[in-house]
Amino acid sequence: MSEVLDAIFNRRSIRSYTEQPVSREQLDILMKAGQAAPSAMNQQPWYFVAIQRKEMIEELASLLNVEEDPYHNAPLLIVVFADKKAYSPVTDAALAMGNMMLAAQALGLGSCWIDYSRHVFNHPQFAGLSRSLGVPENYFCVGSLVIGTPAQQPDAHPVNPETMTVVV
Ligand SMILES: Cc1cc2nc3c(=O)[nH]c(=O)nc-3n(C[C@H](O)[C@H](O)[C@H](O)COP(=O)(O)O)c2cc1C
Repeated sequence: MSEVLDAIFNRRSIRSYTEQPVSREQLDILMKAGQAAPSAMNQQPWYFVAIQRKEMIEELASLLNVEEDPYHNAPLLIVVFADKKAYSPVTDAALAMGNMMLAAQALGLGSCWIDYSRHVFNHPQFAGLSRSLGVPENYFCVGSLVIGTPAQQPDAHPVNPETMTVVV
């Protein structure tokens, strides 16, 4: 099987990580994988904020009232924003995030999409947060990814076979 197919079929959402940090080289590859995604009219309407500072990840986790650590103690959080004025900002940003998850898998890292960040960064109470992290004005949060060395290897989820039609 090709490496791409191998990454597609073996990626799992990882919700437990070791303390091992993601290296600068790995982070660069992850960001480039996101930037290499296709986008409507090639607008590339995304903006990625990579956070490796543990205290900042913990502070974000504490902003809304949730029982468990939404970031699963991961060493890297990538929050993904998109331009409100773009043609299809959510679709484009989601494709970039898909690329980053597959790149993580190819690098031997685990990842998980974490929706929690969307509720924090799009909350009027925390309106200044994204600007303070360099996000351009009029961008909104689409979601986030936690990434790191997996401390678990979950089984594949059962695939629903009733999700396609093939016409020959
Ligand atoms: C849009 C989206 C939002 C998700 N939000 C969360 C989340 O907030 N927390 C979480 O632990 N997993 C989240 N997930 C991961 C899914 O639960 C996971 O992809 C699904 O259960 C299938 O498992 P797999 O990724 O291991 O194949 C999200 C996935 C997507 C695509």
